[in-house]
Amino acid sequence: MRSRMIAGNWKMNKTYDEAVELATGLADELKDGTGSVDVVVCPPAVDLKGVAEVIEQKKAPFALGAQDVYWEESGAYTGETAPNMLTNIGAKYCIIGHSERRGYFHETDEDVNRKAKALLAHNIIPINCCGESLEVREAGKHVSFVVEQIKKDTDGIELKDPNQYVIAYEPIWAIGTGKTATADDAQEVCGAIRETLASLFGKDLADTIRVLYGGSAKPDNIAGFLTEEDVDGALVGGASLKADSFAAMVKAAMN
Ligand code: 13P
Repeated sequence: MRSRMIAGNWKMNKTYDEAVELATGLADELKDGTGSVDVVVCPPAVDLKGVAEVIEQKKAPFALGAQDVYWEESGAYTGETAPNMLTNIGAKYCIIGHSERRGYFHETDEDVNRKAKALLAHNIIPINCCGESLEVREAGKHVSFVVEQIKKDTDGIELKDPNQYVIAYEPIWAIGTGKTATADDAQEVCGAIRETLASLFGKDLADTIRVLYGGSAKPDNIAGFLTEEDVDGALVGGASLKADSFAAMVKAAMN
């Protein structure tokens, strides 16, 4: 059985002090533990160390994730963050291929693939985002579009353990718009992602890799997504910026 995962993508929100405050609040909200639910928070890069310290000091039941990485080991890449820098401050996960990075920063599937390989080489778990635009969905091509993204993003990757990789299906038209996909929409694509993973990595691995939904997921709609067979949790943007709403989503996933 797959254990559920609720991950928070704080995006470009929270100064260092605010991030420490949010992580502290979340540790308090979740002080009784999260059962079998894996919880991850992904603050901005400059906040990572502060959140790592909160996790350590409060023995918080959540793991640290970054929002991006560069694939080179070190060197003259101004502004970038290397995988071993993430490992060194305690990051266990890293989001790659978010539609905001693909859209605003022209990240390609080839870039995402390089990042995935670099992370795996450093034992950091990629949270590989994928998802279609409204235009692609209206043309009825969303399933094939997402399947192609996943194939390109994971090209040449060999997985030994299903816990080494997480996929997040985030339809672009549902991100930050308040417009959620229906649970059926999410299942249609998450199911196709799992079939693709089975063709790439074998059925046993695919059956245990977590596939998350993201896009205006909130405390009052999370339960609907979690009833779907191939939706194993959520990657949460806006609703992860307040300790009480994010904790409510974790608690919903514990039921
Ligand atoms: P929202 O939950 O704000 O729609 O963001 C989703 C997202 O992009 C998470 O990565």
